Amino acid sequence: MKLELLPYQHVNLKTNKILEQLTASSRALAELKGYANTIPNMHILINAITINEAKDSSAIENIVTTHDSIYKVLTGSGYKEENAKEVVDYRTAIWTGYEQIKKDGYISTKTIVNIQEVIEHNKAGIRKIPGTELKNSITGETIYTPPQNEKEIRDYLKNLEDYINDFKDGVDPLIKMAMIHYQFESIHPFYDGNGRTGRILNVLYLVLNNLLNSPILYLSKYINETKQEYYRLLQNIRENNDFEEWVLYILKGVEITSKDTIKLIEKIQNEIKSYKEDFKSKLPKIYSKELLDSLFYEVYTKISYIEKACSVTRLTATSYLNQLEEVGLLKSEKIGREKVYKNIRLIKILSDN
Ligand SMILES: Nc1ncnc2c1ncn2[C@@H]1O[C@H](COP(=O)(O)OP(=O)(O)OP(=O)(O)O)[C@@H](O)[C@H]1O
Ligand SMILES: [Mg+2]
Repeated sequence: MKLELLPYQHVNLKTNKILEQLTASSRALAELKGYANTIPNMHILINAITINEAKDSSAIENIVTTHDSIYKVLTGSGYKEENAKEVVDYRTAIWTGYEQIKKDGYISTKTIVNIQEVIEHNKAGIRKIPGTELKNSITGETIYTPPQNEKEIRDYLKNLEDYINDFKDGVDPLIKMAMIHYQFESIHPFYDGNGRTGRILNVLYLVLNNLLNSPILYLSKYINETKQEYYRLLQNIRENNDFEEWVLYILKGVEITSKDTIKLIEKIQNEIKSYKEDFKSKLPKIYSKELLDSLFYEVYTKISYIEKACSVTRLTATSYLNQLEEVGLLKSEKIGREKVYKNIRLIKILSDN
């Protein structure tokens, strides 16, 4: 059957079940937004959360790596590991999209193409050659053939773009997010990276609708943990026209993930507090807020960062970091020719999550 154009007017998106779940999901998300607004050093959390998202989302595509490798790639010290690099690129793609929509105030096909380009680091763009099919991962049989012709794909994207940027249709943005994700994955405009691009689109859509101020709610962990269900429900729309189950699934994901993210932020906040206490009591002479913040900025730090953040000489910066290592607050590691210092306590929280 041919893919329909949005907005699927014949589908009832206001069933009792959906409305009930929508209330719970909206409340949880609003709580996350409110909570995040009260946090002074939000950039620390955004950095940490987007690393975890990049890792989880890439894992759905079987790109598996460790936090440790990701950090090593992030230091830019020449450390090479293909999967970790993919994860770092995914995080970059989130920022590319985020900055673009902040600037534009809407989500365009071009932004979507740019995001996918960063994820895949190639300029293949929208599919031009036919042949892309979605297959059952176990049996290998074709379950769905997305639109094949470039013009047709672009028309579907234009229709999606109109739907995304229509803020006056009276449909709740969380419900729309579910519809957008289904439609985008069904258009499947790229040769590869459609899942990851679609997952980034979700968070950007939340930001666009002011349901979040920064990109901090990600469904990838939830999707990864319920992967079979995720694929089944997408296909269930196609085969049984069952939108309700799908929308409920996405809404539930928003509720669960909002709550989980609040917990993660709390954990990180508590860790910053207790770390700060330890730092102050063990090394009162060198403690400063700038230095503390730098140690949480990117999970690892380098001498040059400290020089800049604290306006001190290289010698002093080195001495700070070495003292912090001596009292067990950091752990150094040589990557290439450079020495980096890891905040192992923060890394543990992120990798446990
Ligand atoms: N039956 C289906 N109908 C619509 N979309 C589907 C269906 N099955 C899978 N998909 C979507 O296709 C995506 C996979 O496409 P693709 O390989 O291009 O993306 P990816 O980012 O490389 O992979 P992944 O999503 O596994 O990380 C899935 O994540 C899912 O969103
Ligand atoms: Mg793929």
